[in-house]
Amino acid sequence: MDDLHVRYEADEEERSRGSLRTPASESPVILETVELTRTFGQVVAADGIDLRITAGERVGVVGPNGAGKTTLLNLITGYIRPQRGRIRYLGRDITGLPPRVITRLGIARSFQIPQLYTGLSVVENVLIALSAREERGLDPWRPLGQDALISEALAILGQFGIRDYADQPVVALPEGGRKLLDIALAFALRPRLLLMDEPTSGVSMRDKFGVMDTLMGVLQSAGVTTLFVEHDMEVIRRYAGRVLVLRQGRIIADGPPEAVLADVAMDRRVF
Ligand SMILES: Nc1ncnc2c1ncn2[C@@H]1O[C@H](COP(=O)(O)OP(=O)(O)O)[C@@H](O)[C@H]1O
Ligand SMILES: [Mg+2]
Repeated sequence: MDDLHVRYEADEEERSRGSLRTPASESPVILETVELTRTFGQVVAADGIDLRITAGERVGVVGPNGAGKTTLLNLITGYIRPQRGRIRYLGRDITGLPPRVITRLGIARSFQIPQLYTGLSVVENVLIALSAREERGLDPWRPLGQDALISEALAILGQFGIRDYADQPVVALPEGGRKLLDIALAFALRPRLLLMDEPTSGVSMRDKFGVMDTLMGVLQSAGVTTLFVEHDMEVIRRYAGRVLVLRQGRIIADGPPEAVLADVAMDRRVF
């Protein structure tokens, strides 16, 4: 018997005694970064980031401009490569994999500025995301919409509360609706982990909580783990179960929002 079997059986034995270090009731680690480091010239945008996120968490990321929030998302999704450190997703090392492979494994993202096809209708945008997921590509001889995917596209728009806009051009959507559509496109890829860069930026104060209620409701009921960058502390308090404070590429605080944000000294150091 090789080592692996010996270890496996030892695990089984522990499990049967009910003394395994990670009890079955505990959520698995979905994402782990170890000493993740990225510099741009003299700027250290990610400075040895150690982070563990378990399935089902809603993690908010705050920090001043230039703290490295977007860099962290870019590193996790493969848009930029770290100079040092590793990234593991569901136990698998994904460091250095290209973005499309990472997306296929189950990590999707939305950008600070919605990445939409503005010349197309709302439902056509979702159909493109669904075609990408199905690896069908776009067949120029088969018009978008004459396809079984259309009912799924409409269902997704319904979940995000923008189904009424399905046949309208993207520009007909209000800003909040555009943000929701952008996240709906990422959601259409059926991720297990969704990263969002300022999902409410550009949305009016009046609409902000409506947008967050909708999108966090959809993500939670689908069991999608989320990491989102957000400037509004009230949004963090309401929607994050955990908040990371970044400063100069480092995590300087990590914990429940009430505890972390109540620290006034911290606020002064960061903002
Ligand atoms: N592609 C890049 N090229 C050069 N510098 C970059 C690049 N991306 C980020 N930076 C720098 O890294 C630092 C962190 O940037 P960023 O992650 O965008 O911060 P945040 O999203 O917190 O505002 C900044 O100083 C920024 O100028
Ligand atoms: Mg940013």
